Amino acid sequence: MKILRSIEEIESLRSEWQSRNLRIALVPTMGYLHAGHLSLVHIAKAQSDRVIVSIFVNPAQFGPNEDLDRYPRDFDRDERLCAEAGVDAVFYPAATDMYAADHSTWVLEDSLSQTLCGASRPGHFRGVTTVVLKLFNLSGCSVAVFGRKDAQQALIIRRMVRDLNVPVQVVFAPLVREPDGLALSSRNKYLSPAERQGALSISRGIFQAEERYRAGVREAAPLLAVVQESISAAGGKIDYVALMDQDTLRPLAVADRPALLAVAAFFGQTRLIDNVFLE
Ligand code: PAF
Repeated sequence: MKILRSIEEIESLRSEWQSRNLRIALVPTMGYLHAGHLSLVHIAKAQSDRVIVSIFVNPAQFGPNEDLDRYPRDFDRDERLCAEAGVDAVFYPAATDMYAADHSTWVLEDSLSQTLCGASRPGHFRGVTTVVLKLFNLSGCSVAVFGRKDAQQALIIRRMVRDLNVPVQVVFAPLVREPDGLALSSRNKYLSPAERQGALSISRGIFQAEERYRAGVREAAPLLAVVQESISAAGGKIDYVALMDQDTLRPLAVADRPALLAVAAFFGQTRLIDNVFLE
């Protein structure tokens, strides 16, 4: 497995692979890998000849009071997990290489980014779309895999690819959970045992809402209420619990078309997200 630390190194590997007509898949990550990331690698391997995992804690997608500095990092462990998963190359650039001191060009998706996490984290998705397009360009990937855990992010990237005619196939991968239901996230590391226990109320609420939906309930109010009640009873602070149209990310009063039930809530200082696609 190759470790690529500079722009020149990834460009040269990309040229070599492209000259041999190899189909390249990219799995963009911020590192501190878990089973969710590795599931993306397995999907990427099945769809390509070569897999690149990028590990880059992207400063452009963090707000001034967010967790950029304390975001968990463990490159040695990530490298080992990638090697074990059969990754061909890890791209691990420095922020100063990814962003020139006078960087001034941004990719702005202007509709789906306005709501949910985009409303709570101004500028977040501008940072995501910008870095993802850079990673697509640098890696020369034909396919890129994103987890449904970050559903809004995945939908925004799919929209960016469509709107800007980016020649990359965007694959959505299933959300991966711990056996007790907690959605896998690198940020779960921040949770104390008591907070982690409380955080299980998010998935519990989501499963109950899904059960109601499967039983035929379509009105947003009872679907959202069961999630809100579950989180509040466990002492969580809700950022949003919302039922959205999957295509437009506009709120739905009735789930009469493919819908996304999305949640963001704080346990302690840790902001967690989770969701279910209702269709
Ligand atoms: O989902 C993530 O880990 C990040 O938002 C991504 C896609 C790697 C961009 O920095």
